[in-house]
Amino acid sequence: MLIKIWLSESMEKIEGKTSFITGAASGIGFGIAEAFSDAGMKVVMADVEGDALAEAAEKLAQKSDHILAIVLDVTDRAAMAAAADEAEAEFGPVHVVCNNAGVSNRGPLDEASYEDWDWVVGVNLGGVINGIKTFVPRIKSQHACSGEGGHVINTASIAGLLAGAGNGLYATTKHAVVGLSVALHQELKPLGIGVSVLCPGTVDTKINYSSRNRPKGFGPGGMDLDPEQIALLDRSMKLGSSSREIGEIVVGSILSEDLYILPHGEFSAVYQKKMEEILASFSNKPPTQNQLESMQLRAEAFSGFWNDGGPSTEEI
Ligand code: NAI
Repeated sequence: MLIKIWLSESMEKIEGKTSFITGAASGIGFGIAEAFSDAGMKVVMADVEGDALAEAAEKLAQKSDHILAIVLDVTDRAAMAAAADEAEAEFGPVHVVCNNAGVSNRGPLDEASYEDWDWVVGVNLGGVINGIKTFVPRIKSQHACSGEGGHVINTASIAGLLAGAGNGLYATTKHAVVGLSVALHQELKPLGIGVSVLCPGTVDTKINYSSRNRPKGFGPGGMDLDPEQIALLDRSMKLGSSSREIGEIVVGSILSEDLYILPHGEFSAVYQKKMEEILASFSNKPPTQNQLESMQLRAEAFSGFWNDGGPSTEEI
């Protein structure tokens, strides 16, 4: 009974509300769009790949009258602002933003060309930054007027928590998205606006074929995989979660206001090993009075800054 009341109250957070999802033509973005639409949300699907987007939007439009497709390159700031205007004109204020579009490029770091860096950083990190700069001020001001709340979901990856040989470029962008999301969470939580960072492991999508969206100006993908590696990754992807499953998890995480969305528990042991290594690397000298006071002052200067769980000067 209690769960039922909680669920119906929570659903008010999303039912009838407007969502804006980047990278919605394929994979995880499409799975989120489908789950949002089934939960009664109005869905704006944005993607750089026009034909795939039209097809994906057509599928969802068979079940809902509230689907809008906008061709958008997330690295284009002016186009992102125009897309936000178009979304608002069609469906009213945007409450939920999913900065999800992403691309992958693998190989040793020193072999990545500057064009590889510019493309992957531009989409994976720049796209998230542009989404925040475009939508967060709008969500804040509409929340201040209406109290309707809002939520930002940034798609990082398990590679945002774990880096390894061969995925350094991708992991660099995804670690940045995790850091950015944690900070944004601390900034928006006091206002009643949620932030989540989605860090999946393996999901069966077209991410290994990201070079299909690499703009010509960036030249050929210097780090593309050889056919044998692609075959292994394809087999691995097929064993991964479905995008729809991830979409459902995202809906649940908005309702329960989770910061971290970590659908793949098989990575927890690896992460624990990494955390233990980091913890063991901290100096074990007891902190000096100056160090503790310095930490306390930082915490006072920026609310929530590094002080979660830290000792207070009174506890010294
Ligand atoms: P996908 O390739 O199936 O979908 C990505 C979508 O982003 C595509 O529709 C593509 O057209 C779009 N896109 C690419 N560049 C764009 C741009 N400049 N502007 C707008 N849209 C653009 O791949 P997937 O896996 O669904 O990727 C979605 C997100 O999930 C990415 O951020 C990816 O890094 C992340 N992710 C994926 C995992 C997986 O196992 N598939 C695991 C962890 C994270």
